[in-house]
This record gives sequence, C-alpha cells and structure tokens, in this order.
Amino acid sequence: LNYLNVKDRRKIIDTLTNGLARLEYRGYDSAGLAVDGDESTDILLFKQVGKVAALKKLVSEQNVDFEKEFVNHCAMAHTRWATHGQPSMTNSHPQRSDPKNEFTVVHNGIITNYKELKTLLENKGYRFESETDTEVVPKFAKYLYDTRDPNKVLSFTALVKDVVKKLEGAFALIFKSIHYPQEMVATRRGSPLLVGVKTEKKLKVDFVDVEFSTEEKIPEPVNSGGLLSPPTDGVPKLRHSQSRTFLSEDGLPQPIEYFLASDPSAVVEHTKRVLYLEDDDIAHISEGELHIHRLRSDEGKSGSAVRSIQTLELELAKIMKGSFDHFMQKEIFEQPESVVNTMRGRVNFDAHKVTLGGLKAYLATIRRCRRIVFCACGTSYHSCVATRAIFEELTEIPVSVELASDFLDRKTPIFRDDVCVFVSQSGETADTILALRYCLERGALCLGITNTVGSTISRETHCGVHINAGPEIGVASTKAYTSQFIALVMMAIQLSEDRTSMTQRRNDIIDELKKLPEYIKQVLSIDNELKQLAKNDLNKEKSLLIMGRGFQNATCLEGALKIKEVSYMHSEGILAGELKHGPLALIDSDMPVILIMTRDSLYPKVQSALQQVTARKGKPIIICNEGDDGIEIHYEKIRVPQTVDCLQGILTIIPLQILSYHLAVLRGIDVDFPRNLAKSVTVE
Ligand code: G6P
Repeated sequence: LNYLNVKDRRKIIDTLTNGLARLEYRGYDSAGLAVDGDESTDILLFKQVGKVAALKKLVSEQNVDFEKEFVNHCAMAHTRWATHGQPSMTNSHPQRSDPKNEFTVVHNGIITNYKELKTLLENKGYRFESETDTEVVPKFAKYLYDTRDPNKVLSFTALVKDVVKKLEGAFALIFKSIHYPQEMVATRRGSPLLVGVKTEKKLKVDFVDVEFSTEEKIPEPVNSGGLLSPPTDGVPKLRHSQSRTFLSEDGLPQPIEYFLASDPSAVVEHTKRVLYLEDDDIAHISEGELHIHRLRSDEGKSGSAVRSIQTLELELAKIMKGSFDHFMQKEIFEQPESVVNTMRGRVNFDAHKVTLGGLKAYLATIRRCRRIVFCACGTSYHSCVATRAIFEELTEIPVSVELASDFLDRKTPIFRDDVCVFVSQSGETADTILALRYCLERGALCLGITNTVGSTISRETHCGVHINAGPEIGVASTKAYTSQFIALVMMAIQLSEDRTSMTQRRNDIIDELKKLPEYIKQVLSIDNELKQLAKNDLNKEKSLLIMGRGFQNATCLEGALKIKEVSYMHSEGILAGELKHGPLALIDSDMPVILIMTRDSLYPKVQSALQQVTARKGKPIIICNEGDDGIEIHYEKIRVPQTVDCLQGILTIIPLQILSYHLAVLRGIDVDFPRNLAKSVTVE
C-alpha cells in the first residue's frame, strides 16, 4: 500500500488489516504488518499468530502514535498459510533482514532454492530467526545492499532485480526498506500480484503509452500534458519501464493510493481499477508514481509490452471465486496448478529423482519396516486406496489401507516396526488424530500427509509431506485428492530409489508426472460435454453405479462419494471383479452405469464386465482413453488422455468431480456447503 497525502497512521493500519481480513477465506494461521515509524529511517513490525483480528488487537495495544500524519507513506501486511515452518510469530511475515528492519518482505509462494541461499548467507555471518523460506529474501537484499559498489547509486529496483535473479520457485514479493524510505518494490513469478489504483478526482489521463524501453535506456519522464497515443479500446495502458505523474483535470498532481495485493478481494472496497502484473514484472512505487520494469533488460520486445488497467465489475464473493460460480468448481479447475505446486521443488524431471525433504532423515527406517499402514477418512482414504498398488509394487513393502474409525474400532495390532501414514487434507479430522495417537503410543513411526501446515496431524507426526494444494474451501474435496495422490506416488518413488530393478518404472512415472498438468487441462476442456451428460442422461436418475477395477478401484469409490456428497443422488462404487458376486442383480435397462475402461493390463477383464452389463440391457457410459476405438460406437463415452496406469486415476476422477458438480447445480443444491456435512469433522 502506498499513499500520497495520507491523513494518519490509523487509516493505513485499518486499510491493511481490513484487506487482510478479506483474504482470510484463503486460509490463515498468522498475520503481520510493517509500517513506517516516527523517524524517516524506522520501520515498525507487528506480527501475531491466529486470525487478523488478533493482529488488529495487538497493534491497538502497542504504544503507537495513531494520529501521526504522513505526506507519503508505504506499508505492507500479510496473512500466512504456512508451507515452511509452523505458524508462529517469528515465522509470520513480514520477514526481515535484521533487528533494525533494514529490509522487510512479504511473500506469497515458495522459494525452492532457499536452502542454498541460506547456507551462503550463513557463511557470510547472517543469523536466521525463522524457519521460513522467505527469510532468505530480505537477508539477501541486505547482503547485496551492504556489498554494493559505493561509487554507484543503487536504486531499489536494481537491487530487487539482483535479488530476484537468484530466486527459484513461485513467488509474489513486496519489498520495503529504511534505505529507500517511501518507496516500494513488488515482483512476481508464478504467484498472482496486482496493483489497485485509486484517485479521488477524475483523471484527465491515466497511463501514457510510451515505447517499450529497457533498463539501459529509460525514457525521460513523459510530458504529462496529454495523451500520447490514445488507447484504442478505451482501456488505459502502461508500457514497460515507464509511467507518468497523475494529473487531475485541473492539471495539478493529486493524491493517489496504490494497493498491491495477491487477490482483488483485498482491494476492491477501495478501488475497482486494477492492473495485473505479469511474471518478472518489477513494479516500483514512489512519490505517487508507478513504474513497471522487466527483470531482464535484454528481453527486447518479446512478451506482452502492455499492461492494461481493468475495471472490476464483480461483487466481492464473486471475486473470491474468480470466474467460477462455486469454490468446488474453482478448485476442480485449479488442478493443473495445484498438482504442480505439490511437485514443485520435489521432482527433478531431468534427473528422474524425487526428493521429499520431510522424509529424508527417515528413509532408512521406513525401508526397514515390516509393513506400512495408511490411515485416513473420506476422500483422503480414497487417495490411499488409489496409490496402494504402486506403493507395494515400487517398495515391495506390504501396505494396508485403513479407515481411521474402523481401525480404532478393531483395536488393530500395531508394533514398533510398523510405519503408519496419516493422510488428511485438514490435518484436524478427529478419527484420524485418534488413530495417530494410538499408533504413537505403540511406538510406530508416524508420518503425516496433510494440506495444512501447523495442523494437529502435522505437529504430532514424526515427519511428513505437505501437499501444498492451497486452501480448499468446498466441502467436497477435489484438488486435495489429486495432490494427496501425487504426494503418495512421490513418496513411493523416493522410497524405492535404491531398487535398480525399478528404475525404468520410476522413470516412466516421473515422465508422466511432468505431463499431468497438460493432461488435466484436456480433461477440463470437456466440461460442457459433461454438463450435457448430467442434464440429459443422469439428472432424472435416482441411482448411479460406477464400476472399474485395479488402479481404477479408487476412482469408483471417490467418484461415487462425490456424487453422493454434492448431488444427493445415491451412488455406489463397485469393483468390476465383484460384479458377478451380487451387484449384477441391480442391472437392468433403467440402471445407469459408468464403467471405467482405460487401457491398462486389466482392460480385457473390464471388457467382460461391459459384456455382463450389456447382456442385461444396461446402457453404460464409458470412461475410456482418447484414441481407443475398440469400444462400440453406440456407447456414450467420456474420453481422457492415456497416461501410465498408476497415474490414470488422476485423470479419471476429474470427469466424475465435474459430473457431480453439474448434477448438484442442476438440482439447486448449495454445492460448497451440502446439507449435514462439514469440511473438517473434528468430533469422533
Ligand atoms: C469430511 C469431509 C470429507 C473429507 C473427510 C476427511 O468428512 O466432508 O470431504 O474427505 O472429512 O477429511 P480430511 O481433512 O482428514 O482429509
């Protein structure tokens, strides 16, 4: 947030904390803010664990002069959803370079090479106070600042560019420094970042178009007297490396406020005019001006050279959901990105290697164990069912899959040489937590696979993996399932890396993991066909059977759960091998059946299930691979790309997620909050 002619500090803090509160729907565990102190070379830092309200309370209890007036003011704030390090005061943002707060930074994303940077800085004598990946950023900025050429002027923008060039991963970053008072620099790569612009008066001109320029040749500030090249489409535009002074109609500079945020919901109550930054944009805000530079000056004119200021027309709730009608739909469509976030920094596709940092110290113990017990509830349980076979194949360790409630009911024998893996999106499911404590008491090594850093399961397990799928709000779990699936496959690959006989199999899986985001996009592109199928074929039905076998068993169970949860239609997942042992009695011309018939070693067996269904006049809908022309033409088909057998389940579940979503919408059900269900069941 950058203000020109701001009234008092209270307004700044209120604006920031209100903006943070708007972001709480994305998940939070702690929050913090940095504002200018009373001296020009002073930054005040406030941090608190918990909700934004707790931060607000903390600030109000401090000895801060709220009436202090500023002519120009920059401040930043952040709400955290932990990926590295527990939620705590020191781990919350802003992160700082040193106790004097010379450089403060807020960050959304993951710095994957933070360990190398941390080692480098520690060797230079820097002492780290947090467990975050972010802390390397302000410290590295200070290091570069302290070792700058004293004979040259180092601008804040140039300094940030040098920092960013060393960073790997995904990030949106905002920098503030006592060495550059009243300036702010922001940049992004992979994580979203936008600039909201608010002016009191009507603008005579917005941004002036100037030619693309590079760092070496920054054009003179543009004559602000008029529009150089009028925007053709009525959208004000800004080209790289240049901006202008804002003028009001009377030609005088006017107060202006800039808001940097990862999400428009944080700024929409102040302004609806936003400019979305692109990867490697470096936005510099100072003295009421916004300049956008590119990270590398040698890019020439490649890429888009224009940034448009867009006017948001949406309501707040709508903005939080982006262009989607419901969180469930948004989360289904986020899967091309969420699966990448699960793998980021962990899968080296060139070296065909998987490294899950959280398990490193325990690999030898796990490899020596006598069995692995997966334990979970609901959708998380299905991710265990989905990956059990590849786990056993790669590791040659017997795996049992347990529903947490049943596991406890049976008082299952557990021993010191067992490894127990607790899978939970929330990390707070009571049944799973109780099963975890039961196994801890019996001396087993306990691992957690969760989406929530700092949750009970991630705290109480010995080690584990965070799936990093991002907050999931829809009660019906979608993106967490595919991310859990991938996390478990990655774990199996890493555990088997000492088995040379499995090298080819591992390499094949890793090659296909790389292609997953593209495959998922292809599946999402049939959304409309699935909507029609829901409308024309399934909506009138009372019941739906979903059948498959082998690697597709889990898809049947999870697909049926999705249909039940959100559309309230009765649905059952059936192992095709069991068809003749009972479920066949249900089949007649009125019973809709979805049959999963992808090309793996069990294909011929599923073909015979198809025969059994059609012999009873059933009319199956078949989920099959693209290009599979061995299936009779008159069947309704849902086609998905073919991938390696053990990952195929990620591509077959998505059409069922989409189908259940459309069925729920057609039936007028509150998709994100289906009756009687809770996102996280914290009671037994
Ligand atoms: C609840 C939710 C399900 C979820 C299950 C396990 O029943 O409604 O969607 O799969 O809990 O939750 P967890 O957070 O442990 O994955």
